[in-house]
Amino acid sequence: MKRVKAIYPGSFDPPTNGHLDLIERGSKIFDELVVAVLGNPEKDPLFSVADRRKMLEAMTEGFDNVTVDTFDGLTVEYALRVGAGAVLRGIRAISDYEYELQMALMNRKLQPGLETVFMMPAEKYSYLSSRLVREIAQLGGNIDCLVPPLVAQKLREKMDIAHKFSADDSSRRDTQDGMTTERKRKRKS
Ligand code: PNS
Repeated sequence: MKRVKAIYPGSFDPPTNGHLDLIERGSKIFDELVVAVLGNPEKDPLFSVADRRKMLEAMTEGFDNVTVDTFDGLTVEYALRVGAGAVLRGIRAISDYEYELQMALMNRKLQPGLETVFMMPAEKYSYLSSRLVREIAQLGGNIDCLVPPLVAQKLREKMDIAHKFSADDSSRRDTQDGMTTERKRKRKS
């Protein structure tokens, strides 16, 4: 019987419970599944590609047929390079469909032999996205039930560093303001 290798490409910034749910479903229908993190220099990612890869590797260590990789350039070319016959993508709601369909059809135009397979994550993840997770974490909300524990930990570390930087910045500004006020006071006297 033909073995099917699939790639699951995405930004995964950060990987969420929804991604993990889809990886688990994909691992059951494909012989091999490569979770492929796009190193997209155009976007301003929260996590580096190396960090995202590490998080995904830790999240997927329990799956024998799942590996994690990174790629640049076209998804279809990457699929060809690694010998994959299918692209796995998740569809959470009808709103995802238009963009996903457009991408799938464009990929088919570029590489007719490559099939896109859409799978739905569990309904409880239908509202979940990396973008919302980033926003909630940045605003100090609780993300524990949205991402695996190791990702939650990494997000907290990121936010602590960001808060420390902004606290340092504002204390530097306060000091500068203080100096300015002091200088003005001296000039007046
Ligand atoms: O998780 P995302 O951001 O929705 O993933 C989008 C991704 C990485 C699958 C898409 O942007 C992509 O395939 N990028 C690689 C460049 C490419 O092939 N572009 C043409 C797509 S038709």
